[in-house]
Amino acid sequence: MDQEDISPLKHFVVAKRTISTIFDQLQEFVREGSGFVEETWHSEDLEQVAVEDQYVQMQACARKLAIIREVLARRHMKVAFFGRTSNGKSTVINAMLRERVLPSSIGHTTNCFLSVEGTDGDMAYLTTEGFDERRSIETVNQLAHALHMDPSLDSGCLVRMFWPKTKCALLRDDLVLMDSPGIDVTSELDSWIDKFCLDADVFVLVANAESTLMNTEKHFFHRVSERISKPNIFILNNRWDVSVSEPEFLEDVRKQHMDRCVSFLMDELRVVDARQAPKRIFFVSAKEVLSSRVHRAQGMPETGGALAEGFQERLREFQSFERTFEEFISQSAVKTKFEQHTIRGWQITESVKAIMDAINIASAEKKVLSLEERESLMDRLEFVRNQLNVLTEDVKEKIKATADEVAAKVTAAMLEEIKGLSALVDEFCSDFSPAPNALALYKSKLQAYVEERMGKNLVSRCSSSISGYMQSSQRDIMGTHYHKIEFRHLIDHCIMFHQWTRSLWS
Ligand code: GTP
Ligand code: MG
Repeated sequence: MDQEDISPLKHFVVAKRTISTIFDQLQEFVREGSGFVEETWHSEDLEQVAVEDQYVQMQACARKLAIIREVLARRHMKVAFFGRTSNGKSTVINAMLRERVLPSSIGHTTNCFLSVEGTDGDMAYLTTEGFDERRSIETVNQLAHALHMDPSLDSGCLVRMFWPKTKCALLRDDLVLMDSPGIDVTSELDSWIDKFCLDADVFVLVANAESTLMNTEKHFFHRVSERISKPNIFILNNRWDVSVSEPEFLEDVRKQHMDRCVSFLMDELRVVDARQAPKRIFFVSAKEVLSSRVHRAQGMPETGGALAEGFQERLREFQSFERTFEEFISQSAVKTKFEQHTIRGWQITESVKAIMDAINIASAEKKVLSLEERESLMDRLEFVRNQLNVLTEDVKEKIKATADEVAAKVTAAMLEEIKGLSALVDEFCSDFSPAPNALALYKSKLQAYVEERMGKNLVSRCSSSISGYMQSSQRDIMGTHYHKIEFRHLIDHCIMFHQWTRSLWS
């Protein structure tokens, strides 16, 4: 398994990836939801199911999510190193990076805040505060020179250094290490804390094992813990290699340092309990670890001749610090960096849920209303259908009665005409001759005369009484029924009937 797979820092990286994916999905969901609310709000058919205010709220949720997403993308784990000048802060960071990345030497070396983070490119570069320009750096001396020669830099400035991830496994996992000038050379502690400490996940106090914890160091962390509730602090008693020069006091000195450091963390700062405190305190030699790691990288034996007695033990303690620190910072950063966002994300989901619930309820009510309306329309349709059936039956009967009546009237008129047939024949006058040809002509003339007279008589007899009857039927139908179509049919029938009777007699 390679180092990347087993690094405890991966915990943070995986958590960041997971929470980012969740927020991406949430953003997509809210974007879709916002579109849905807008569409529903504008829809005429779904009047009042969604309202403008809900759309405005959805838009606000989308904006909040976009901001959180942006902040998440910039989230990293940050460890800040503090201590008096020359205690070895820069050397500790170099030892962790396994290379002489930062300038370190006797005297006051680091003159401003210097953060180291990974870059995907092959070239190391730095940016100074207020300038976007990237300045490439190849050697530590060049960096030291660049920093010392820059008149715009003071101790409260931040220089960001980007070191290729390919050169250093520690920088692959979103970790930023921040070096600082000695806390004993500044009067700007408060502004330092505001500017550089509030987003730090872990603080490492690099103390000098040759002396005891100094008031400047204690004072600084008191100020930090006034601003940050329970800061996570590790204490490195550096330069522990020097203790081998006085082996007879080694255990006593170690115990004395340990007791004072435990008391500082537990009783003074109250950031840990008695069980946790000793796990935050280490006795190391950054210089030895750095030099052995640099030697190893150059293919030389790790324990070069210059290394003092007890080196392996001090190396193990440094490794144990690194391991504990990595586990701790990733756990702690996940909590501090993501917990608030998780809560905010949850609150946004709740708001969206409330909006969607309200729309759901409004649409359910709208559905009930529509169903009721449909039901009443169905009832009305059924009623009209029944009315129509009644009307049709009625009209059929009326038509039949009309037909019967007309037939009776015509029959009666016909009978009257038959009765008056002899009178008609009497009225006919024409020359009569018994000759067969003349007789045939006489008969046909008589027939034509009778037909014409009878026809006229019948028409005059029937038309007034039938049309009177028809008009009364029309009035009857109009008075009883209102259905226009059926009525029109009825009228059509009547007109047809009327025409039929006229054609019958004309
Ligand atoms: P400033 O940047 O000035 O605040 O100092 P610093 O805390 O960064 O200290 P730096 O790392 O520059 O180290 C100062 C000197 O102490 C250098 O000469 C280092 O080689 C030396 N030094 C650092 N760590 C150790 C150590 O563990 N043992 C010994 N013997 N010397 C060390
Ligand atoms: Mg330094």
